[in-house]
Amino acid sequence: MSFISIREVGPRDGLQNEDPVPADAKVRLLDALSATGVQRIEAVSFVHPKAIPQMADAAQVWERAEKNRSVRYSALVPNTKGAERALAAGFTEIEVVVSASDTHNRRNVNRSTEESLDDIAGLIDLLHQHGATAEVIISTSFGCPFEGDIDPGRVAAIVDRAVADGADRIAFGDTTGMGTPRRVEEVVQKVRDRHPDLPLLLHFHNTRGTALANILTALRLGITEFDASVGGLGGCPYAPGATGNVATEEVVHMLHDMGYETGIDLKALLEAARLAQEIVGRELPSGVLKAGPRIPL
Ligand code: COA
Ligand code: ZN
Repeated sequence: MSFISIREVGPRDGLQNEDPVPADAKVRLLDALSATGVQRIEAVSFVHPKAIPQMADAAQVWERAEKNRSVRYSALVPNTKGAERALAAGFTEIEVVVSASDTHNRRNVNRSTEESLDDIAGLIDLLHQHGATAEVIISTSFGCPFEGDIDPGRVAAIVDRAVADGADRIAFGDTTGMGTPRRVEEVVQKVRDRHPDLPLLLHFHNTRGTALANILTALRLGITEFDASVGGLGGCPYAPGATGNVATEEVVHMLHDMGYETGIDLKALLEAARLAQEIVGRELPSGVLKAGPRIPL
């Protein structure tokens, strides 16, 4: 039986793309997710409060949330300042984001991809000095809303640089749901050829309905780590009302039926999804949440 490691990103990627909710609601969602058996949770991000007001209270939320010993919690940061804040809050697993698309990177963090990579080199050293791990998330890996297609060679070159600078892991983000199985295969294979043992994680949005097909493709390429968001919480920052991250229940439901283990209790996860729905006050897109699992629990 193979194990697939799911990282729940609803509290960060999900909530940052919804209208702001109170800290109390964020803590309740984090605690509900910590009780589902999920191994990893991306809890908060340390970004500029003006850029993402939804995460302005990250440190307070994290301080109040229950820390379950069997869960690995992580925080996302856009730069060294964010990494310092994450370390001060007690995180030991940190993800830093950079876009493969220069235009997207400028819009997101106000600097070129190259400038971000320069900052990330020092950031990785800082994290390692503090005994923390550094994951580099390369967003727009499968396409950019501004530049369109992204050359897999460019993505691979960013991986080369991040690995040379000491990154512990790499994640590929499909920020606006432009990935397709063909593109997933191209990027993963290109990177695997150069770094056969590098841990890779994939992050898909279901904006255009391809997320589960992308995950299935990645599974067949031997990828065992995926991000997903409870209920499909979150949207697309460039398309109001669009479907966001792939729903964790949909991923877990499919994987368990295929004989994979995730450690997640689908019933507890559905309870967390209902809570997420209540917190944001809108129906979430998850099909498993709407229709129930194929076999009643
Ligand atoms: N958290 C809080 N404050 C931060 C910060 C961070 N991670 N990074 C920089 N700042 C502060 C600086 O201390 C500085 O403060 P000061 O004016 O009081 O001295 C100010 O912001 C400007 O710093 P600068 O480095 O010039 O930042 P910027 O204005 O170019 O903004 C980012 C860059 C990265 C901080 C901002 O674009 C951002 O937070 N983006 C996040 C986007 C995001 O989260 N997207 C979704 C996830 S992929
Ligand atoms: Zn995302």
